[in-house]
Amino acid sequence: MIRLMQKADLNQVHAIENQVQTHPWKRQQFAESLASYQCSVIEHEQKVVGFCILQPVVDEANLLLMAIDPQYQGQGLGFKLLAHAIQQLKNEPVQIFLEVRESNHPAIALYEKSGFHQIDLRKNYYPCEDGGREHAVIMVKTCHDDFAALFKS
Ligand SMILES: CC(C)(COP(=O)(O)OP(=O)(O)OC[C@H]1O[C@@H](n2cnc3c(N)ncnc32)[C@H](O)[C@@H]1OP(=O)(O)O)[C@@H](O)C(=O)NCCC(=O)NCCS
Repeated sequence: MIRLMQKADLNQVHAIENQVQTHPWKRQQFAESLASYQCSVIEHEQKVVGFCILQPVVDEANLLLMAIDPQYQGQGLGFKLLAHAIQQLKNEPVQIFLEVRESNHPAIALYEKSGFHQIDLRKNYYPCEDGGREHAVIMVKTCHDDFAALFKS
């Protein structure tokens, strides 16, 4: 089941984030996101096992963060959650943007499967655990492709 995140989910969401990120968001950032962004969670047997945070901006959106509990990865939950969360965006964005670490191959593959493609590379954007820096891959998904295709034909 996929639904909007609530205050009661914050501990579980933060626990997942801490397991998967080298530089995790603080609990307070998730709490503030509830008021500002579209925050979704996916449940498995009534347990929150993943989350997705989208920021609508006028007629576009940014995918800020998403994760699936490591125990539940590779089962199609991330794909399902992202597709559903995008579909639920009330501003019906023309484009959705995201940035992701260049080394994060599972996430890049998920985003490509979800219709995103790379448009830029932001050099030395992310801090690394070893003190170095890592490039950010900037990706975009153009929504309403069927509509756009009408004008091309
Ligand atoms: C990225 C992430 C959300 C994917 O969630 P998931 O539920 O495991 O992904 P799914 O099972 O829905 O897989 C969907 C697609 O993603 C890709 N994918 C997922 N895991 C992958 C892996 N380990 N290696 C390569 N591709 C992978 C595949 O294209 C897959 O489609 P397929 O099964 O048809 O091959 C999850 O790995 C995660 O939480 N990672 C840590 C946090 C993170 O990196 N978040 C994104 C950046 S903020």
